[in-house]
Amino acid sequence: MNKETAKKNIDKLVEELQQHNYNYYVLSNSTISDFEFDNMLKDLELLEKNFPDLIRKDSPTLRVGGAPTKDFQTVVHKYPMLSLANTYSEEEINDFDVRTRKIVGDDVEYVCELKYDGLSIGLTYQNGILKQAVTRGDGVSGDDVTNNIRTIKSIPLKLKKHSTEDFEIRGEIFIPLDGFAEMNKTREDIGEQPFANPRNAASGTVKMQDPTEVAKRPLDCYLYYIPGNQLKLNTHYESLQEAVKMGFKVSRNVAVCKNTKEIFEFINDWDKGRKQLNFEIDGIVIKVNSYAQQKQLGFTAKNPRWAIAYKFKAEKAETILNSISYQVGRTGAVTPVANLKPVQLAGTVVKRASLHNSDIMKSLDIRIGDYVYVEKGGEIIPKIVGINKSKRTKNIHPVDFIKNCPECGTELTKNENEAAHYCPNEDHCPPQIKGKLEHFISRKAMNIDSLGEGKIEMLYESGLLNNISDFYKIRYEDIIGLEKIIPGKDGKKESKISFKEKTASNIINGINESKKIPFARVIFALGIRYVGETVAKKLATSFKTIDNISSASYEELVEVDEIGERIANSVIAWFSKDEHKQIISELKNVGLNHEIDVSSENISNILDGKTFVVSGVFENHSRDELKALVENNGGKNTSSISSKTGYVIAGENMGPAKKAKAEKFGIPILSESDFIELISNN
Ligand code: IVH
Repeated sequence: MNKETAKKNIDKLVEELQQHNYNYYVLSNSTISDFEFDNMLKDLELLEKNFPDLIRKDSPTLRVGGAPTKDFQTVVHKYPMLSLANTYSEEEINDFDVRTRKIVGDDVEYVCELKYDGLSIGLTYQNGILKQAVTRGDGVSGDDVTNNIRTIKSIPLKLKKHSTEDFEIRGEIFIPLDGFAEMNKTREDIGEQPFANPRNAASGTVKMQDPTEVAKRPLDCYLYYIPGNQLKLNTHYESLQEAVKMGFKVSRNVAVCKNTKEIFEFINDWDKGRKQLNFEIDGIVIKVNSYAQQKQLGFTAKNPRWAIAYKFKAEKAETILNSISYQVGRTGAVTPVANLKPVQLAGTVVKRASLHNSDIMKSLDIRIGDYVYVEKGGEIIPKIVGINKSKRTKNIHPVDFIKNCPECGTELTKNENEAAHYCPNEDHCPPQIKGKLEHFISRKAMNIDSLGEGKIEMLYESGLLNNISDFYKIRYEDIIGLEKIIPGKDGKKESKISFKEKTASNIINGINESKKIPFARVIFALGIRYVGETVAKKLATSFKTIDNISSASYEELVEVDEIGERIANSVIAWFSKDEHKQIISELKNVGLNHEIDVSSENISNILDGKTFVVSGVFENHSRDELKALVENNGGKNTSSISSKTGYVIAGENMGPAKKAKAEKFGIPILSESDFIELISNN
């Protein structure tokens, strides 16, 4: 291809991809399938690889993350990044209104907006292209985090409408609640401390050094402020609407209010309505709409006088602490839980609250029998925020954190620089065994979806499963007829799990199929602390075989990119246990992949969550090779076409009935070369 054609194709792909991104991430209205999108992105990557000087600054390929940054550059804000005056009281909102009217007169309008609970960011565009993204810092200067911010798909890399002048807009970066829950679950799976709340997770993520890691986190951004009336409009509200036209994600939950009555209506609606949002807000921001009036009002040293933030009060109740129990999680972390005298709070009856860890218990100086304050803020789980010490009776004593695991009796350990206590008996403590078994079968590990939490529990209780190598010892005869009654709890009905013929054979088939799972995912499935998917892939590609990983020295391990002291020590500790050596030897014997498959080095997650049917005869690959490629790249194979099938890879002689079925369900049919093109260049 000559350069001119390449440029034409690149321009076309960049613009189409930008529009699709905008449709999906800003308008939440996708017009093409993920598959088609991925295909176009791959085409663009290939062209950019061959013509690197044609890479555009607004190319969507930049969103996957660039090179790591050691230290972020400090950038002085062109317009200082001020914060807002805060209040919890309606009276102060009235005072704000009176003060404002005194200065600008009675002809005033306010814009009420949600107050997003994340971290603020300033985005600068030059000629309509994202040039720089800077954190608030101390308000005068902040960190240049552009490479990380580029990975956020709802932030335009190129504006739909712009002038030639530099343009700055501000907004809030946050992590939606569903993405946060998933992210924390994955962290817990590999023994990482979960984030305390979405705000911490968002600010921790924005300050990460490796943009490719940032790209994996579900960051999002709402824009809400254009400093310095750069668009030369009359009102803030008009600026927000103009920002929408430029391609920014601006919330539609905005109201223009004429008086405090309307402001309080907005506040009250959202104090209730916020529970339905998929992100956290901690209040409402009220801004004077007219720029002329904003100018008249001006700024104090810290805040604009034309805006104020009303913060929601967390709902609080007082009740008695009856006892403390301790829960052992799947990673061995021990969480203290307060058992409370039931109390009504924000529409529900609260009986339990998390006490988080021993440091928090100590700082509260909590004692059994205390009157405690329970609060429900943005979070779903209530927390104890204080103690009514005036009601404390003399003869109650401080609580000592338990010394031994309540599940298996092992003495607990605590690292000095971590808050949590752990049960170190990772291979024999029941919740930890079950946690490891569940991790092993999970979608991103061995993907045995004929098993789940309930079935694992049953197999564990019946003595068939004690560690991950036991999966491959289970026989059909062992499980057929097994039954378990699950008692009804919290209003749920009693239910029964029973292993009839179909269930039992699905389980056995699922386990057998898992033997084809590529090596890197086997490493991930072992459940070695701190070895997540990315690290597992690094280990697989760097050391090639399980024996090499198991015998790798500390120096060899830390030499691998992304593997530091903590991970290296954890890998060495895991492989040094005789019990684990035994597990590895058994897994090898039953035929799990224990070395990298050189014929298909190509490993990725690109087909994650997608199901394939491979059918017919192919020119360059056998059917099994194609199936292995599907799995190596995170997809799943099934034999028959159903409405759930994602794609069919069709070769010569694919039966007409199958083809008709695929067409009936509207399933895309790929040729061998379509498929290879899709997974290459990873
Ligand atoms: S306007 C000069 N609008 O709350 C005023 N801020 O202390 C610029 N925030 O630092 C801010 N939602 O991080 C504005 N709708 C909203 C907001 C908002 C959240 C944050 C922002 C700011 C802090 C106020």
